[in-house]
Amino acid sequence: MLIFGIETSCDETAAALVRDGREVVANVVASQIDTHARYGGVVPEVAAREHLEIINVVIEETFKKAGISPNEVDAFCSTAGPGLVGCLLVGLNAAKTMSLVYNKPYIPVNHLNAHVCANFLGTSLEPPFTCLLVSGGHTQIINASAYDKLEIVGSTIDDATGEVYDKVARLLGLPYPGGIRLDKLAQSGNPKAFKLPEAKVGEDEFSFSGLKTAVLRLVQGLKAEGHDVENLESPLVADICASFQETITSTLLNKTVNFAKKNGSKTIVLAGGVAANSRLREKLFALKTDGYEVFAPQMKYCTDNAAMVASAAYFNPIKTENPLEFEVFSRG
Ligand code: KG4
Ligand code: ZN
Repeated sequence: MLIFGIETSCDETAAALVRDGREVVANVVASQIDTHARYGGVVPEVAAREHLEIINVVIEETFKKAGISPNEVDAFCSTAGPGLVGCLLVGLNAAKTMSLVYNKPYIPVNHLNAHVCANFLGTSLEPPFTCLLVSGGHTQIINASAYDKLEIVGSTIDDATGEVYDKVARLLGLPYPGGIRLDKLAQSGNPKAFKLPEAKVGEDEFSFSGLKTAVLRLVQGLKAEGHDVENLESPLVADICASFQETITSTLLNKTVNFAKKNGSKTIVLAGGVAANSRLREKLFALKTDGYEVFAPQMKYCTDNAAMVASAAYFNPIKTENPLEFEVFSRG
């Protein structure tokens, strides 16, 4: 089954062709990073307008790359939510229109389920597994007992992981997008330079506000002592990044492994934009020595893309009587 997918939930305009949920035939992503960097973050109205301007080009490019005509597609899908409503509308209406024109089904997809399905692209992963989903808007431990049975068993009580990365990055004066830059700087720092607190919350819960405040206090304290923390080249900044990264990745993986143990799960999977994080991946892969099977999406399928959306349309579509009447939704 060949599915054409579109993703426009935030600041990436993306389209892809995927066969049977696993084989990526073509994958095109147009990022709006340069536009939003000027504002230090995503401006929803600007993002929606950019999607509208570029969506047709991205769609055409995808078919051209694959050497496939839209007539050969078995179904069209798009992210229906959660995300920015104005942005989602662009992708959803494009996919619905193509479904009507080419007389093939339209399949709505949940963005978070799509992040999980990024792990099926080019792999033979099968449920059951435990998944740590870490994105800009969500932090969840998911018990995946079947392809269409993703049960959220733990989540954050305040900020999402990507959000904390972006806020700490802003605090340190790193340019947008912060998470990936913080990760780069952390790689040259000493992760043991500063001791930062891990939140004491319920065993399957996350809380990052204390960690965020601790970094703020640390930076303020260092400034008061006359240290140069404004200079991004300073080893001190790299040490702060590394210490933060060490703390947050430990919390995330320790809690995930705890759940996996409780649940008798032998396979642990990462998903979401922060699954691209170097230290998180390193720690995940180290779990192999403890006998776990581990999976993380290829880097290009961690952050928002449409291949994962087309995979989710195959493995875990939103179930609805009349897909063409299905509307966008902002919260998941
Ligand atoms: O999944 P995603 O592309 O969009 C959402 O659905 O939210 O995730 C974006 C988030 C951003 O907060 C970004 O800073 C973070 O993922 N991110 C990273 C890295 N790459 C992206 N955070 C830490 N380390 C990275 N390498
Ligand atoms: Zn996402």
